Amino acid sequence: MSDRYAVMGNPVAHSKSPQIHTRFAELTDQDLSYGAVHVESPDFETEVGRFLQGDGKGLNITVPFKERAWALAQWRSERAERAGAANTLYRLEDGRLAADNTDGVGLVRDLRDNHGVKLAGARVLVLGAGGAVRGVMHPLLEAGVGSILIANRTVSRAEELASLFTDEGEVSACGFDAIPAEAFDLVINGTSASLQGELPPVPAAVVAAHTACYDMMYGAEPTPFCQWAMDLDAGRVIDGLGMLVEQAAEAFSVWRGVTPETASVIDQLRASLDTK
Ligand code: ATR
Repeated sequence: MSDRYAVMGNPVAHSKSPQIHTRFAELTDQDLSYGAVHVESPDFETEVGRFLQGDGKGLNITVPFKERAWALAQWRSERAERAGAANTLYRLEDGRLAADNTDGVGLVRDLRDNHGVKLAGARVLVLGAGGAVRGVMHPLLEAGVGSILIANRTVSRAEELASLFTDEGEVSACGFDAIPAEAFDLVINGTSASLQGELPPVPAAVVAAHTACYDMMYGAEPTPFCQWAMDLDAGRVIDGLGMLVEQAAEAFSVWRGVTPETASVIDQLRASLDTK
């Protein structure tokens, strides 16, 4: 039997992870299978234990279980520890359950390596203060950004999140109505507003000709945030498809010790979105 991997979540049927990891396995000549496991909420912890035995070597965890995966782990990487959530589980040699979080490094690699966005010293505006944003804070700060302003609809959430990261760099918080009307180097949308076809109310002045705008969401059509950024002639407008593939590549590397090439996988995935 080959080693088994899966993404676990609810819902999980539309996850791209099986397609991505199956392609990685082909590209790196690794003998493994990767599926999707739909889990009902009360069963999550039991299902993790059931999967991660014998040939079951690793799990990706998606909504709404990333925090519970973190809590369940007996060992955590520093980036998982700081994220307060885990998207990657596996067993250490001594049998302990290990948790990692590869989302933030996925974002950093997509921005910096795939799109050539300069992170060192960058003034960054992050929209949203939920789990998705918490997961990328440490890797962005580690990549050397100059400052991060977290703006959120619920200001107290932005303040709480900022306070968790002030030890790592210049991090501050405000509501959307208090965002300064000045250009940022990078604006990242980490809200789930586009799921409702909405756009956070952000002043146009944050976008200048040199500004890179990144939406952690993606779709076949430009997201409302990407469309807004394009209308403002932002220097770069990027959606989260590359982040999805890069976080998967890092998880694959954690499990298998080989890092797959990602460019062709991103291209293929983009093409398959466009034709649906
Ligand atoms: P996730 O794990 O995806 O981050 P979450 O923890 O529920 O999910 O956080 C969702 C984020 O999107 C929050 O920052 C939320 O703002 P609030 O904290 O004020 O709820 C933000 N969000 C969701 N819908 C939004 C909308 N229509 N406009 C602006 N922000 C929105």
